[in-house]
Amino acid sequence: MKIVAKHAEGKVLKSDGFQISAEAKLAKKKDPSIIDGTLGTFYFEDGSFKTFKVVHKVMSELKDEDVYLYSTSDGGPAFKEAILDWAFKEVRKEIEANLTVATIPTPGGTGALTSSVFNSLDPQETLLIPSPCWGPYVGIATNRAFKVEKFFMFDGDAFNLKGFIEKCEKIIAAERKLVTIINDPCNNPTGYNMTKKELEAVIDYFNSKKDIPCVLIYDCAYIDMAVEGMKETRDKMLAFTKANENVLISITFSFSKTFFIYGQRLGGQILLSKNKESVIEQYNAANFTARNTWSNCNKGMIRVVEEMTKSPALIDEYQVELEEVIQILNSRAKLFKRESKEVGLKLYPYHGGFFITIPCENNMLVLQKLVEEEKIYLLPVDNAVRVALCSLPLSDIKGLAKKIKRVIQKYN
Ligand SMILES: Cc1ncc(COP(=O)(O)O)c(C=O)c1O
Repeated sequence: MKIVAKHAEGKVLKSDGFQISAEAKLAKKKDPSIIDGTLGTFYFEDGSFKTFKVVHKVMSELKDEDVYLYSTSDGGPAFKEAILDWAFKEVRKEIEANLTVATIPTPGGTGALTSSVFNSLDPQETLLIPSPCWGPYVGIATNRAFKVEKFFMFDGDAFNLKGFIEKCEKIIAAERKLVTIINDPCNNPTGYNMTKKELEAVIDYFNSKKDIPCVLIYDCAYIDMAVEGMKETRDKMLAFTKANENVLISITFSFSKTFFIYGQRLGGQILLSKNKESVIEQYNAANFTARNTWSNCNKGMIRVVEEMTKSPALIDEYQVELEEVIQILNSRAKLFKRESKEVGLKLYPYHGGFFITIPCENNMLVLQKLVEEEKIYLLPVDNAVRVALCSLPLSDIKGLAKKIKRVIQKYN
């Protein structure tokens, strides 16, 4: 007798980041010499986790009604203003002058991705994702009976436009539609930043498909961790203004990352297109999904975003704190890259953000041996292992490349 539904049968979380990280954390409690480079949460050099002081301050000044009442499934007008101000900063006017825009809060970036994928595909249609990529993209698709196709992300040190287009052509030939996720900037797991030209080339390709609906899910979870800063990351999004009517862009935003409010679960979906109908349809579907799945989002965090966005003084405070985080990340990355070069450890191209990734075919054995022989916990991604620079102090990073190189050389 089977009680579980057919669609739910055999669904088991495997090699999941949260699970592996929980194991690493438990092991580290028993043995503090363990190096835990598993999870994508920022820890300071003294090993502490802290949210931004300014976020904490705004949060602690909220009234009960701002925190404990329900919010609405669509987030309300103040949140819509706030997320658009934050996500686009000085390019907001130009985006809105060229495209129809709609937005809705979601439980983290994950909620935005889930809703975007669910409302863009029908069962048995295909989601195109990069390889390597953030693991849950696969589950987000397969949990709802969508197929997954992957393209290899790199051509040397650049975005693999040719490989991307080849996979798009194959899907379009079979399904007359394309839905894809690109995670940029500070790509998880590699730290790659697409150039504005590369993003424009993706849009140009979609435009060339004329009557084929193309959905670009632009997962910008780590946008505010980019060394380039807010001006450059927002300026790049002007590439979207060039999209034709057959293109819909769903930007998935993660306040988990931007404000270090990981467990509070707030993100947002921002829909853009020259085709007003497409935006309205997707928005209505997203709101329906929200009300009938998670109902509404964390009201306190919605209020934090609203307050943070409308006060230049709070934004200044945030910028100062953020700069410190970015500088710490930068010095960790510099050290790891320098030592990797010294020992000949090959890395995927890294420009910024929380993670660096090492290509490695036999990744599961290498990860097991890293634990057994070096007490190092890292995470598997497609044919590679990911190092979470965000959670490792410089003292753990020093010498890390050499240890990883030794194990890879022995077992890969
Ligand atoms: C690439 C990427 N996208 C989206 C998310 C979703 O973030 P959250 O749902 O925690 O806001 C994450 C979180 O780790 C991520 O790494």
